[in-house]
Amino acid sequence: MATIHLKTSIPGPRSKALSARRANSVPRGVSEITPVFVSQADGAVIEDVDGNRFLDLAGGIGCLNVGHRAPEVVAALHDQVDRHLHTCFMVTPYESYVKLAEKLNQLAPGKTPKKTLFLNSGAEAVENAIKIARAYTKRPAVICFEDAFHGRTQLTMSLTSKTHPYKAGFEPFAGDIYRVPFAHCYRCSYSLKYPECALHCAHHLEDTFKRVVAAESVAAIIVEPVLGEGGFIAPPLDWLRAIHEICRKHGILLIADEVQTGFGRTGKIFACEHYGVEPDLIVTAKSLSGGLPLGGVTGRAEIMDHTGPGSLGGTFGGNPLACEAAIAVLDALDHGDLCNRAVLLGQRFRNRALGWKKRFGLVGDVRGLGAMQAIELVGVDGRTPNAEATKALAQYCLEHGVILVTAGSYGNVVRILMPLVITDAQMDEALDVMEVGLAALAGAETRTAEHAVVS
Ligand SMILES: Cc1ncc(COP(=O)(O)O)c(C=O)c1O
Repeated sequence: MATIHLKTSIPGPRSKALSARRANSVPRGVSEITPVFVSQADGAVIEDVDGNRFLDLAGGIGCLNVGHRAPEVVAALHDQVDRHLHTCFMVTPYESYVKLAEKLNQLAPGKTPKKTLFLNSGAEAVENAIKIARAYTKRPAVICFEDAFHGRTQLTMSLTSKTHPYKAGFEPFAGDIYRVPFAHCYRCSYSLKYPECALHCAHHLEDTFKRVVAAESVAAIIVEPVLGEGGFIAPPLDWLRAIHEICRKHGILLIADEVQTGFGRTGKIFACEHYGVEPDLIVTAKSLSGGLPLGGVTGRAEIMDHTGPGSLGGTFGGNPLACEAAIAVLDALDHGDLCNRAVLLGQRFRNRALGWKKRFGLVGDVRGLGAMQAIELVGVDGRTPNAEATKALAQYCLEHGVILVTAGSYGNVVRILMPLVITDAQMDEALDVMEVGLAALAGAETRTAEHAVVS
């Protein structure tokens, strides 16, 4: 039986009424990616206030690897609600913060002893990782990548690459941040091809140290092991190792931003495990806590312990509800074998998407790691980013019962971030919708191209 069930046109009347209230009360800057208001959600299914049932390929932007209202998470929350809600870990501590830290220290790649600090969001966790790296190395500069996304706060916006809508108008940015090309093989900044390029983009860092910023001034290189908002760009496996070696050579810390890649999404708990790299600091958030606000920095104990008492933390950081939820998430990932499930789901998507690439010129690239998969849409020349078609595909999917989010510096990537508990039948149902949408768009594109030739 189909999961998708639409009773009204999308958005329905109740959602429309709420959207109008929202427009009057919430600033435009908080974007409205889908104008449907949720009433209830379970697993990979969202029901809206008009009674329409959608398949969720967005997962609250990658926060629900264990699914909406995972039973383990819900039970842990009910239990915690009946005990205490907030004391501030710095004032009156509680075991769940410590237990979760112990778990993450154990799960983080490498044998070096680790420690973990909790915050409220991904951006806050990135801020803290940079703060810790600067204090430990006593160096000011940070190197980040083209197409990176690290958040919307002052420092993390400065580390983020995409200008609109994230940066333009919010200048000036934080200082001592330097941006270099990522290993974006589909759109290589140096127009080279892997592996003949011999990882030119990684080794070019040595040139950056001569012409842009001295290596001995650089505290850290911050990297998403697979670019998230930048368009699900998975670098060659040896690229991150090369970056890590360069870091080691110059005493620079490697910070892995695993906010979007973490907790099973790529088929391992942390994506950097694929690359055989032990980052000095790992930043987490999103799927860590199954829908509750929580961010973390896990790093080498020696680095994490460098700053004095009172220098890290915050009033709500590591709230007991969020910590209990996160402990339950780690159990659910394990019990549900969700890392393996991510690999199978990723393959399922890729098989379909590679077929689309053959059939529709609109699909320029199919890429990703594990279940972190995407398609990049291009124009009739097979190259120009096609943001219009991408928007139209997302809209088509929404109107036909599939919620998804786009990505990419050019806004031309459709990514999937479904809960990993989605069933095969639900996944196929969602992919069927995408396929019909793509076929309709591909027909329209062909007709437009023919028209352009004739006129
Ligand atoms: C890789 C990465 N880092 C940091 C962030 C910021 O996280 P938050 O939105 O929780 O502040 C995001 C959010 O999308 C992200 O994808």
